[in-house]
Amino acid sequence: MDLEILGLLAFAAFFVWVAWASVRRHFQEPGQLPPGPRRWPVVGNIFQLSWREPPHLSITKLARQHGPITTLWLGSMCTVVISSGEVACEMFKNHDVVLAGRKIYESMKGSYGNEGSIITSQYGSHWRMLRRLCTMEFFVSSRLDAMKGVRSKCVDQMVEFIQDASAFGSNAIDIGRFFLLLTFNLIGNLMFSYDLLDPKSERGANFLYHAGKVIEFAGTPNVADFFPILKRFDPQGIRRKTQFHVEHAFRIVREFIKERMETTENGYNEGKTRKDYLDVLLEFNGDGIGEPSRFSSTTIDVIVFEMFTAGTDTTTGTLEWAMAELLHNPPILKKLQSELRSTIGHGRKLEEKDIESLPYLNSVIKETLRLHPPLPFLVPHMAMTSCKMLGYKIPKETQILVNVWEIGRDPNTWDDPLQFKPERFLELNNMDYKGQHFEFIPFGSGRRMCPAVSLASRVLPLALGTLLHSFDWILAGGLKPEDMDMTGRMAITLRKSVPLNVIPLPYK
Ligand code: HEM
Repeated sequence: MDLEILGLLAFAAFFVWVAWASVRRHFQEPGQLPPGPRRWPVVGNIFQLSWREPPHLSITKLARQHGPITTLWLGSMCTVVISSGEVACEMFKNHDVVLAGRKIYESMKGSYGNEGSIITSQYGSHWRMLRRLCTMEFFVSSRLDAMKGVRSKCVDQMVEFIQDASAFGSNAIDIGRFFLLLTFNLIGNLMFSYDLLDPKSERGANFLYHAGKVIEFAGTPNVADFFPILKRFDPQGIRRKTQFHVEHAFRIVREFIKERMETTENGYNEGKTRKDYLDVLLEFNGDGIGEPSRFSSTTIDVIVFEMFTAGTDTTTGTLEWAMAELLHNPPILKKLQSELRSTIGHGRKLEEKDIESLPYLNSVIKETLRLHPPLPFLVPHMAMTSCKMLGYKIPKETQILVNVWEIGRDPNTWDDPLQFKPERFLELNNMDYKGQHFEFIPFGSGRRMCPAVSLASRVLPLALGTLLHSFDWILAGGLKPEDMDMTGRMAITLRKSVPLNVIPLPYK
């Protein structure tokens, strides 16, 4: 036998041994894992998943055969999938702390460690400090109220961009691009008081490109996550490519910060009445014991970058799905436009204060989030220690996927679950986004739930309502509503597979 074959056999034996060792750990603890399909040695259930379908579909199909709490083995990664409101309620009410860890994929591991990252921090004091920053500074009602003008300015800009691009009804546009412009500019303004995507700004476009790539790689299945032995080899190059784009995005963030420092030193910020998020980060004054007295530049880069990655794709995707569902269901579009036009009237803009008198608009957004939650599995949670849930053992480090996509389609909860019927939320008008109605948790629930619900719940109706109030909409290329492709594709968020091309006709 020549040396190469011998080497290969030795490598294979070592690989099997390491994979087996990590699986065996889970069987040394007493108790039974939640039910699941029989798994193969080493590869687990990986080959029972269809890789031609997006992960939320193939995981759901497999999990459906075993009930609302299911164990799947992705290589050596033990994963528990939760697929009903009742089990989600049990998780968030009785096991929230233990299950508030994060499963960190290879692509998320920055060269900076996880310093400054709220999304990937494990539950603990560092995460608590960052979370407090979000709830007490970034998304607190008083600051959001003070920034009302920023949101309205960004929505107006989006309307202008649409008017220009469509040449007042002559050209078709990809509406998702304009939602992306809106959310990027909005977060840019909240962060830096700066229009990142001014059509003249090359930096903004570069930042968008690199941030988009990071999101794409974060959502790409990586064999190194399933077989830890492969981590150091980074076989698909995902960690290396992610780092490349992160570095580029950080460089752009640093330029913004440098400019801000210079303008502050030159006194140009004097008289500025409203603090933006960068002011908050630069002025942070921690106790210096459990928390830093000042944020390092890396922490600031990471926080800024994460606000963009967490906020843009989720908000853009939701708005695109809402428009798609409305164009797919013309009577619903008509009903919503008549609510908007009778409540707001002609010659006046939709304002945030109008939103609470637009119940159908709010129901359309909720129905969109029920059928198309942007994060179908939330952000993967992880058991920080072993625990027992509903009598099953959940070993330490198990990945927990809360399948909100399936929970929103559960026929035991929802009549006609696959139909887009905003009317159902008119009846369930107390069903909000606070994560206490476990059959509807698009923002999650418990300690790790989205800290920006208050921002998203202002932006989504303002943006959608303004577009439907300002324009009439038709599908491009004479496409009929019934012929629309309504399938989704998964990057890190669930987006429409086919972009939505539409023609806006000014409302006269
Ligand atoms: C339609 C809009 C949005 C939806 C549906 C949404 C949904 C979610 C969900 C499901 C999670 C994970 C919850 C969990 O793991 O249990 C999350 C986390 C997070 N979201 Fe959002 N989000 C939205 C918009 C935003 C925006 C606009 C921002 C910031 C500008 C943001 C910032 C974050 C952050 C920082 C986290 C991590 C929280 C943590 O790990 O403690 N989100 N979001």
